[in-house]
Amino acid sequence: MVLSTLEKVRNEIRMTDQNLSLPNRKSDHIRINLENDVSSTLTTGLENYHFSHEALPELNLKDVDMSQQLFGRYLSAPILISSMTGGASDAAIINQRLAESAQAAHIAMGVGSQRAAIEHPELAHTFQIRRFAPDILLFANLGAIQLNYQYSLRECIQAVEMIEADALILHLNPLQEALQPEGDTHFLGLAKKIETVCRTIQVPVIVKEVGWGISERTARLLQNAGVAAIDVAGAGGTSWSQVEMYRIADDHRARVAGAFRGWGIPTSESIKIVRQAAPDLKIFASGGLKDGIDIAKSIALGATLGGMAGPFLKMAAKSVELTVKTIEEISAEIQIAMFASGAGNLLALQNTPLVHQSCR
Ligand SMILES: Cc1cc2nc3c(=O)[nH]c(=O)nc-3n(C[C@H](O)[C@H](O)[C@H](O)COP(=O)(O)O)c2cc1C
Repeated sequence: MVLSTLEKVRNEIRMTDQNLSLPNRKSDHIRINLENDVSSTLTTGLENYHFSHEALPELNLKDVDMSQQLFGRYLSAPILISSMTGGASDAAIINQRLAESAQAAHIAMGVGSQRAAIEHPELAHTFQIRRFAPDILLFANLGAIQLNYQYSLRECIQAVEMIEADALILHLNPLQEALQPEGDTHFLGLAKKIETVCRTIQVPVIVKEVGWGISERTARLLQNAGVAAIDVAGAGGTSWSQVEMYRIADDHRARVAGAFRGWGIPTSESIKIVRQAAPDLKIFASGGLKDGIDIAKSIALGATLGGMAGPFLKMAAKSVELTVKTIEEISAEIQIAMFASGAGNLLALQNTPLVHQSCR
């Protein structure tokens, strides 16, 4: 029987990296995301917002401009392939496919946490995708919490240089760490450490959540720390408590993880909160965005671009062609949503009021 590429990737992921605990964790994460329903029980809240339809938009569809310059790079559409993988040797295949797709479509991409490669330099190649995507806006990634353990500015610079990134993403995942048997939960004093990195590193620093959103208090702390952008990564999509639940062998601990499936700040709410609390910061919207209309709504609520993780992972596990097709579909949805709501470019879209369901 001929195995599908998806099955092959799953099997290869299962079979490799048996002696390295961090890469093992990354392999578990990919496998669990591909094989199980790990969605939050919350929704993004974007379904409650609608564009006011313009029957006379006074625009030509082909002239609707979705492009922008961001951190020195050109993006043809406001789409980000959110940080996911690397480290596990077979995650290299997925990263390569994501990178080739991002290059073909001129969109932005982040790699997953590079901790595995900092601690096992022989795995750096699984993150090094610049040769497949010489022109894209590319984000390095590390867990901010490592700054409270053994990491400093040095590892941040190392992560950026390792992949020739344009900017660094530090992710915040306190709930995930609390649920992991091996989690790092010493978060006291972390804002100051993030500030030191922001003030000294030569590239922009973006801070993101991983699916539970950013509150007003956190947004203010991050603004004071000097971050260039916040990716809200709100609730409504991938639930990392569910992912961890599937990894935990102990029934008692698994039940604790399962209790958090409905935790977090929905993506739409988090965008609005961050916009209010830190009006000068760029906002990336992510967490449960399912199509280009969700991205367009997020931009109308104040974001600069919209990211997706889970949906791109599923396509990249199959092929570059499918991933590119998915990006093309999402781009078409954004462009048509802009056209039908009378927004000729991203600035106009950011200034397009949305109708909230309760006001209809
Ligand atoms: C398989 C997988 C691995 C991930 N690994 C990382 C990571 O290493 N670093 C990070 O910042 N976020 C990571 N994320 C979180 C995503 O970037 C994103 O914030 C989250 O999944 C919510 O987006 P979604 O609902 O579109 O999946 C990962 C997501 C997935 C699906």
